[in-house]
Amino acid sequence: MTERIAVYPGSFDPITNGHLDIIERARGLCDRLVLAVLVNDEKRPLFSVEERIALIRENVLPSDGARVEVREFSGLLVDFARSVGARMIVRGLRAMSDFEYEFQMALMNRRLAPRVETVFLMAKEEYSYVSSRLVKEVARLGGDVAALTPPGAARALTKAFASPRRAPVRKRPARRRTGRRPRGSTAGS
Ligand code: PNS
Repeated sequence: MTERIAVYPGSFDPITNGHLDIIERARGLCDRLVLAVLVNDEKRPLFSVEERIALIRENVLPSDGARVEVREFSGLLVDFARSVGARMIVRGLRAMSDFEYEFQMALMNRRLAPRVETVFLMAKEEYSYVSSRLVKEVARLGGDVAALTPPGAARALTKAFASPRRAPVRKRPARRRTGRRPRGSTAGS
């Protein structure tokens, strides 16, 4: 029988309990699950791709389901999927707010690679509000993220935000002397 290979792509910056939940669900649907970590320097990730991969590897444990591999990728996701022989792309859906972006991406990927299907999986309700972005924000502001990420990721976040190298503070734009509002601001903001 042909091996069913699925790709679960993402930034994983860092991995959260929501990601882990999707991984466990996806493992029941394929024989081999390739976690594809985007090398997305333009998004200025907090963790390097090597660090993100290490955090995934130390937290995805052997189980009865599909075996899991972790790889980095750049370029088109469908090219990566084809290069590993995957017919399935797995994405997690949390709330309706995810839907539009995910729908567009799935249709674009289908246009580029009609034989690769995108499959959406829903994480447990308790993770429906958990995203790497929010977890980073909470950790940066000193909040507790221990229940939202695997322990290694929580520790890495604490360390990252304790180091000034990792937490660049953006300069505020210089105030205009004219008293006019800067471009892009709205009345009352
Ligand atoms: O975890 P993220 O940041 O939501 O993951 C986004 C990801 C990696 C799935 C997406 O950015 C992606 O597929 N990037 C590869 C570039 C690509 O294939 N673009 C065209 C499809 S829309």
